[in-house]
Amino acid sequence: MNNNRIIELLEEQPQQYVSGEALSRELNISRTAIWKQIKKLESQGFQIEASRRLGYRLVSKPQKMTLPVLLSKLEGTSLVRSIKLLDSVDSTQNIAQRLAEEGAPEGTLVIADHQTTGRGRLGRSWVSPAGKGVWMSLVLRPGIPLQFAPQLTLLAAVALCRALKSVTALEIGIKWPNDLLIGGKKISGILLESTAEDERLRYIIAGIGVSVNLERTDYPPELHDVATSLLIESGQKIDRSDVVAAFIRQFEHLYALYQQEGFGPIRTLWEALSVTLHKPARLYSPAGVLEGTPVGLDERGALLVRNSAGDIVPVFSAEMTFPDGERQ
Ligand code: BTN
Repeated sequence: MNNNRIIELLEEQPQQYVSGEALSRELNISRTAIWKQIKKLESQGFQIEASRRLGYRLVSKPQKMTLPVLLSKLEGTSLVRSIKLLDSVDSTQNIAQRLAEEGAPEGTLVIADHQTTGRGRLGRSWVSPAGKGVWMSLVLRPGIPLQFAPQLTLLAAVALCRALKSVTALEIGIKWPNDLLIGGKKISGILLESTAEDERLRYIIAGIGVSVNLERTDYPPELHDVATSLLIESGQKIDRSDVVAAFIRQFEHLYALYQQEGFGPIRTLWEALSVTLHKPARLYSPAGVLEGTPVGLDERGALLVRNSAGDIVPVFSAEMTFPDGERQ
């Protein structure tokens, strides 16, 4: 409630500072309480400039994605059967999984403005501030054997790479298996979570996170050297619904191709977009550390790595680093 009133008061003075004292008088709360409310507003996507001397100034309001705009941008596509557009959730993966358990069909899409506990691969957390990124999960029921599920991770990476290239003019490449990088820094993440019964795949939740309009200050310091956003790289704010629509278009096309022709065409596209083939790498997996040079994918979707003895070793899952420097 206080939050809305603060925004109203700031909006009454467009582009002007309103002193903390005036806000505190108007809302009848302490200046520390005002500062806490301002922090909360910032976490909701409001950009507010604070000056010790002058007070607070509203720079921009969060751009909300709306259903009518999204639907109009998805015109002509058929994969997405229903869209749940939510404000703040723990993780879109959890919501989509619950819907899938309740029988939601393939093509159920969950999009949130903000995630409080967005999750990434290997148990990591995923920075998902309000109004600044695309945080979405898509329910898939592909009718393929469980062991082929990793192929869809690679397919999603190709779809997202092509989508981001279509909405920006940026050079974007894929780091195995599915990170998209600009100048060596991560711009998005893909997390496919499969649910199976007796080795039969029931459904997959494809989680897509794109750091669209994040600023440097949105990231914790430890991520400054490894993560970036489309805004930081291009200097331009990008409409998040354009990113959603571009991804769905690309994914729909590649998913149909995969179902008709198998993994072959996806493998070729992935290899062409990869920025990590033919460079010495170190791969960490529960089986140990493997040093070698990735040379391509096999027909199952495993990364083929040539080791120092010249043998080709297939790797399905690992954390990859580059001894010669992380930047590509
Ligand atoms: C990675 O570690 O690279 C994968 C990150 C995946 C993040 C997305 S954001 C939408 C969906 N919800 C989550 O909690 N995670 C995925």
